[in-house]
Amino acid sequence: MMLHIPEVLTKAQVAELRQAIDAAPWVDGNATSGTQSALAKRNAQLPEGSQAAQFAGEKILDALSRSPLFVTAALPQTVFPPLFNRYGGGQTFATHVDNSIRQSRDGAVRIRSDLSATLFLTEPEDYDGGELLVEDTYGVHEVKLPAGDLILYPASSLHQVTPVTRGARTSSFFWIQSMIRDDARRALLFQMDIAIQQLSLKVGAGAPELVSLTGTYHNLLRMWAEV
Ligand code: NI
Repeated sequence: MMLHIPEVLTKAQVAELRQAIDAAPWVDGNATSGTQSALAKRNAQLPEGSQAAQFAGEKILDALSRSPLFVTAALPQTVFPPLFNRYGGGQTFATHVDNSIRQSRDGAVRIRSDLSATLFLTEPEDYDGGELLVEDTYGVHEVKLPAGDLILYPASSLHQVTPVTRGARTSSFFWIQSMIRDDARRALLFQMDIAIQQLSLKVGAGAPELVSLTGTYHNLLRMWAEV
């Protein structure tokens, strides 16, 4: 399941983050790549664990924890400390799949990447190209979102970033280990949760049928979750 989560950050928060990260030194993006993606990747990256990356990363983690849509869709067990990349001057990231296991440089965090996320930090009109293309069984999805918006997609997906031919595209990217490893199960729980929330607006949260459905949701979560 792919999901667009609007306004994870406000425009003011985006501006604050951009100020912090734009002023910091950037390095070649292949610092974090596996061998195969190093061949495909042309971009710049904020050094992992740098002061600016930590500052901006904590703001993002805080915003994610306050986003009900993110929490219900990702059912996060652990979110990898956010990383930051920038594409300009024709830079691109050709088709690849993200590494299955991710460890932070200091070894403090090691996760199985169930979900990949990109948080856009540049307005779409400020650059040309730079679309995120994600392949699934329904075809190729093209993603280019307003600054502050997030796209969540299965980390198992083949994906690419098309060349940025004007301006520069700065984003945050990271991975999530979910309490629900399987994408199909996670999608079912998400659809059920959303339906329960919508139904509760119509019939009131105390309706016996809704209490029963909510119980079923939690019992499925109990059956499938790794915490
Ligand atoms: Ni990737």
